[in-house]
Amino acid sequence: MQMPEWREEYSVGIEELDNQHKELFAIGAKLASAVSTGVSVDVAATVTELIEYAMKHFKLEERIMEDAGYEHLAYHRTMHEFMRTRVDLLAARVSKGLLTTEELAEFMETWLTEHLIMEDMRYIPTLHAKRR
Ligand SMILES: [Fe+2]
Ligand SMILES: [Fe+2]
Repeated sequence: MQMPEWREEYSVGIEELDNQHKELFAIGAKLASAVSTGVSVDVAATVTELIEYAMKHFKLEERIMEDAGYEHLAYHRTMHEFMRTRVDLLAARVSKGLLTTEELAEFMETWLTEHLIMEDMRYIPTLHAKRR
């Protein structure tokens, strides 16, 4: 399985958020190369980077949704909390040295790509109406 990548069709039309989404995929790719090299210090540091960056992204995204009066904000926030739980579980696998690149690719696909397509895309009309 190949590592998922950001694609133009994932754009939410807000540069700041698109850039953060791209960065999350980039950290995922960095993590994949650390996992394949097998240097555990690098793997652990990159997982921490992924978690920290994701938290920063969720915070900004939630603030933008809040400002726009997005009606599904509470649900979206719950989804972000769920994503936090899942990435913590991934970190636990990493600390035991159990994470493989295949597992990571699958994780990024369901953790990030699906969230982007199923949840982030849903706020586009509200956020753009607000910015117009
Ligand atoms: Fe989100
Ligand atoms: Fe997002």
